[in-house]
Amino acid sequence: MCGIVGYIGTKEAAPIILDGLSKLEYRGYDSAGMAVYDGHKINISKSVGRLKVLEELTHGGETMKGCVGIGHTRWATHGAPSTTNAHPHFNKKETICVVHNGIIENYIALRRKLTAKGYEFVSETDTEVVAHLLDYYYKGNPLEAITKVLHRVEGSYALGVVFAEHPDQLFAVRKDSPLIVGQNTDGCYIASDVPAVLKYTRKVYYVDNQEIVRLRGDHMHFYTVDEEELEKEAVYIDWDANAAEKAGYEHFMLKEMYEQPKTVTDTLSPRIQDDDIVIEELNMTDEELSAIKKIHIVACGSAYHAGMTGKYVLEGLARIPVEVDLASEFRYRDPILEEGAMVVVISQSGETADTLAALREAKKRGFRVLGIVNVVGSSIAREADSVMYTWAGPEIAVATTKAYSAQLIALYLLAMKFANVRKTVAQEEMKEMLEDLKKLPDQIELLLGNKKRIQRFANRYVGAKDIFFVGRGIDYAISLEGSLKLKEISYIHSEAYAAGELKHGTISLIEEGTLVAAVATQQHLYAKTVSNMVEVKARGAFVLAVTNEGNHDIEKVADYVIYIPETHPLFANSLAIIPLQLFGYYVAVGKGCDVDKPRNLAKSVTVE
Ligand code: M6R
Repeated sequence: MCGIVGYIGTKEAAPIILDGLSKLEYRGYDSAGMAVYDGHKINISKSVGRLKVLEELTHGGETMKGCVGIGHTRWATHGAPSTTNAHPHFNKKETICVVHNGIIENYIALRRKLTAKGYEFVSETDTEVVAHLLDYYYKGNPLEAITKVLHRVEGSYALGVVFAEHPDQLFAVRKDSPLIVGQNTDGCYIASDVPAVLKYTRKVYYVDNQEIVRLRGDHMHFYTVDEEELEKEAVYIDWDANAAEKAGYEHFMLKEMYEQPKTVTDTLSPRIQDDDIVIEELNMTDEELSAIKKIHIVACGSAYHAGMTGKYVLEGLARIPVEVDLASEFRYRDPILEEGAMVVVISQSGETADTLAALREAKKRGFRVLGIVNVVGSSIAREADSVMYTWAGPEIAVATTKAYSAQLIALYLLAMKFANVRKTVAQEEMKEMLEDLKKLPDQIELLLGNKKRIQRFANRYVGAKDIFFVGRGIDYAISLEGSLKLKEISYIHSEAYAAGELKHGTISLIEEGTLVAAVATQQHLYAKTVSNMVEVKARGAFVLAVTNEGNHDIEKVADYVIYIPETHPLFANSLAIIPLQLFGYYVAVGKGCDVDKPRNLAKSVTVE
């Protein structure tokens, strides 16, 4: 969701900005723009659509000379995608230029006041108030103007600001929207996320809430909103640069699906020591863990689906009651959190606005929050009381695959840890479960090896109107994720239903040939799900079944079967999701969709 890149140094800024923005394309956007100071004035170029339009417009940045500049990819919130609404935004004299990620919540009131003072607005954006407000407060000292603006604006923002009167400086500001700054011998950089600067530097600083950074060509200074200087520690990024590249795969999504065996291993192995589950980062004693009476899992999208599986696993193994909430609902439903409750927030990006708000709500009420997070140093990781990282590395495709798989592993480990301290699972069974966990990476590899067969099957459905996914218990949670994967990248309407619920309404949508994917990995629910398959088949559905090896009798009912290898039933999600991810992916590829950057979607949803 909106990407910011800025540069100040000895090199031409425009090509660096364009390159950085291309690394942020995964965030989702619908227009792009850039501003560069040419030695006399600030020049702006903007375009609607893909970044390549801006690249063509500026001949790869050639037409915009200068060594200081800011760029932006905009995901429209206030005002349609258009060149007028695209960032950067100017003050009237075109001497102050701003790019923004986030939402200025009091922009209507500010706009009214500024209009009354004679300011004229050209765009429909909330961002433009920042440019005019800076103009209003600017009396020759940019830092002073910025701090005054920060005291007036409400909401979330990551800002990049250039002042024509101070071309030796570039400013970065942040509150509740991600922003990092980096440095190398050629200059200093600002960006919404690390991949944008990885090619130039590995020394980065995570900008904290309400901090201001003044970047110059060879150094940078950090300030509070009261202009007090701050000391910050740099973080050295040790990612393999290829991790953020496609490495020969057609799409990031395919590459990331193929990284799942490694992701699972990386998330699992540091936490299994001498056949015991060790989660040091929980920072909780066994007594504290035993005292937890209830767990609230809060997340959005796929992370929420992982949380639904987490509920079955935690309740099944540790016998702790678990409630799972969509983060966007949790905060506003005045949830009842009783003494002894712990809140677990799950997020790949660690920046999802709703999940962050839920975390803050829980902390405000005095509850302990555990974050299951992928992006190191993200807002959720920094604000949670403890963090279990999912070691999936950078996930670029908008549709999550490997981070989701890692979230499942973190939840299994958490449930097993709770089960250990509460002694709810016999030692022998625990040992078998550990063995099953260790087998998952190879089993996932095996399932990925099936891609050709799934691709052939998926090609039959590129023209489908509706596709349904059904299952019971954990299989329902798997169905929700399978359905989301398909619809978000292929734009085919799809819904997931608890299999027993179909006949209460949805079954009326089944027509001759409608594809129903039935997930049946839970042996104790198997016969019930098979009955539901029979019901839809009787109404003309074509049934795809995903079930355990050995359930060959399912072929009497299902038209097409995908078998998953044997594992503990509570871990079946990790295997059953693989063919469903591949199915969604190949349907989208078959339709010619922009798989990695589906329309209207953003990778990191930093607005409510
Ligand atoms: O970064 P998060 O895990 O907090 O993101 C949550 C959802 O926005 C995310 O899972 C979304 O649903 C993905 N597009 C799913 O593929």
